[in-house]
Amino acid sequence: MEIVGWRALSLLALLASILVLYIKTPSKQMEINSDCSLLPYDHYWISSKRIVTPQGVITGAVEVKGGIIVSVVQGDDLQGSFSRAHVVDYGDAVIMPGLIDVHAHLDEPGRVEWEGFYSGTKAAAAGGITTLIDMPLNSFPSTVSEETLRLKVEATEKKIYVDVGFWGGLVPENAFNTSALQGLLNAGALGLKSFMCPSGINDFPMTNSTHIKEGLYVLAKYNRPLLIHAEIVLDSEMKVEMNDGGSDARSYATYLKTRPPSWEEAAIRELQEAMQDTKFGGRAEGAHVHIVHLSDAKASLHLIKDAKSSGASVTVETCPHYLAFAAEEIADGDTRFKCAPPIRDAVNRQKLWEALMEQHIDMLSSDHSPSVPDLKLFDEGDFLKAWGGISSLQFVLPVTWSYGRKYRITLTQLATWWSERPAKLSGQIHKGAIVRGNHADLVVWEPEVEFELDENHKTYHKHPTISPYMGMRLSGKVLATFVRGNIVYGRGKHAPEACGVPILAK
Ligand SMILES: *[C@@H]1O[C@H](CO)[C@@H](O)[C@H](O)[C@H]1NC(C)=O
Ligand SMILES: *[C@@H]1O[C@H](CO)[C@@H](O)[C@H](O)[C@H]1NC(C)=O
Ligand SMILES: [Zn+2]
Repeated sequence: MEIVGWRALSLLALLASILVLYIKTPSKQMEINSDCSLLPYDHYWISSKRIVTPQGVITGAVEVKGGIIVSVVQGDDLQGSFSRAHVVDYGDAVIMPGLIDVHAHLDEPGRVEWEGFYSGTKAAAAGGITTLIDMPLNSFPSTVSEETLRLKVEATEKKIYVDVGFWGGLVPENAFNTSALQGLLNAGALGLKSFMCPSGINDFPMTNSTHIKEGLYVLAKYNRPLLIHAEIVLDSEMKVEMNDGGSDARSYATYLKTRPPSWEEAAIRELQEAMQDTKFGGRAEGAHVHIVHLSDAKASLHLIKDAKSSGASVTVETCPHYLAFAAEEIADGDTRFKCAPPIRDAVNRQKLWEALMEQHIDMLSSDHSPSVPDLKLFDEGDFLKAWGGISSLQFVLPVTWSYGRKYRITLTQLATWWSERPAKLSGQIHKGAIVRGNHADLVVWEPEVEFELDENHKTYHKHPTISPYMGMRLSGKVLATFVRGNIVYGRGKHAPEACGVPILAK
C-alpha cells in the first residue's frame, strides 16, 4: 500500500512538473514554426557595430517580434534592454535592409528548366535578397491577364524562400482593353512591364508609344508604375549589320554593333510624350515611368534627366553587369556576357558609375535572366544567335560592393540603391529600411571578407555555369538573411521550409 502510495505521489509530481513546463515555456518565449527559420524565436534582438538605418550607420540592436522590427536602439551597452531576451550578436558584421530586386526572371510556370521559384529564391536568399519582383515574361504563359497572374501565384506555393511580387505584362493585346488591364491590376500586379523592341519571347510582343500611353492612363488610377525596356530597332543600323558578311559572330564587338546606344536613345525620345503625361495635371498623373536596365550613360541618360527636371514621374535602374564589365574585356565566344541592351565600353561604364553616385540613376536591379546552358551556344560561341540574358541573382550584393569600392560607395548608398528606392517603386511601404514597424527583412554580411566564385562556392542558381561571375574573386560575404523575422539563410544553410510570401497589390 505504502509503496503504491509513493508511486502515485511521484507520478503526480511528474505530471505537475510537465504541466508547469508546458505553461512556462510559452510565457517565457513563444516558439514559432521552426521549419520556416533557422532561429526558432518569435521575439529576439540582433546586434552589431554597423547597422544601416535611414539616420546613418549605428552601433546598436534591432528588436524583432512577430516578423516586424519593433525597435531600433543605438549604443554599445544594451545589456538592460536585452534582459531575458534572445540576442544574436553579429559583432562587426553589417546589418542592412534586405535587398529588393525589382527585376528578375524566374521563368515559372512553364520554363522551370531555366530557373524556377525554388532554385531562384534559394539563390536570392543566399545573396541577401529578401524580396524580388518577378517579370511577366520568360515564363509560359506570360503574365498578361488576371488568369495568368493566378497561375504565377499558385506556382509559388511552398517554393519561395523570400517574398515575391509580380509585374504584369503590357502587350498590344491588352493595351486597349481597359477591363483586361484592370483585371490584372485588381488581381495584384504591382505594375506593368512592356518592351519597345522584340522581347526575344514570341508570346510577349512589343508595344509602341500609343500602347504605352494607354497603359499609363490605366495605371494612373492605381498609382503604379510602368517598367519599360527602352530600345527601338533602328532599321538603318540593322541593315548595315546584315550586309556586313565579314563580321565575326564570335566577337563581342560584332554583337555590340548590332545594338548601338542610339537604340536606347531613340526609345527614350519616343517616350517623351508619355513621360510628360505623368506630370501633375497630366493625363496619366499618378502613373510612373521606370526605365529598366539603362546601359547608355550618354544621350539616353540626358533625356531621362531632362524628363525628371521637367516634373515627369520617372526613375531609371541599371544592373551590376553594366557596372562590372566592359565590352572590350569580353573574350571571343563567351556568350555568358550576352544581354540586351549590351554591355558597352569602359568609358561608358565609368559614366554609369558617376550617374549612380550623382543620383541620376536611381536604383539597381539584377535582371537575372537565365536559360538552359544549351541556349547559350557555348560550342559555337555565336553572340548573334545565343540566348541574351545574364545570370547573377546570388551575386549582386558582393558584385556591387566589390566594383563600387573604387568609387568609395557607402553602405548607406547600397541600401538606397538596393532597398529603399526599389521598395518605393514596387509600392512596398513596409520594406526597404530598418525602421520600427517595417518587416524584419534583413541581410547580415561581412563586406571585408573575400571569396572565390569557384566550384567550391555553393551557388544555388539552377545553372551556375552560365553566370559570367563564376571564376571571379569578390568581396562581401552574406552571413544571414532574414525575411519577416525568419532566418531563411544562415551560414551556408537554408531553413527547412520555404515560407516566403507572394506579394499582391491591394
Ligand atoms: C477585353 O478583356 C476582357 C477580359 O479579359 C475580355 O473578356 C474581352 O473579350 C476583351 N475585349 C476585347 C475587345 O478583346
Ligand atoms: C500602335 O499600334 C496600334 C495597333 O496595335 C496602332 O493603332 C497605333 O496607331 C500604333 N501607334 C503608333 C504610334 O505607331
Ligand atoms: Zn529583364
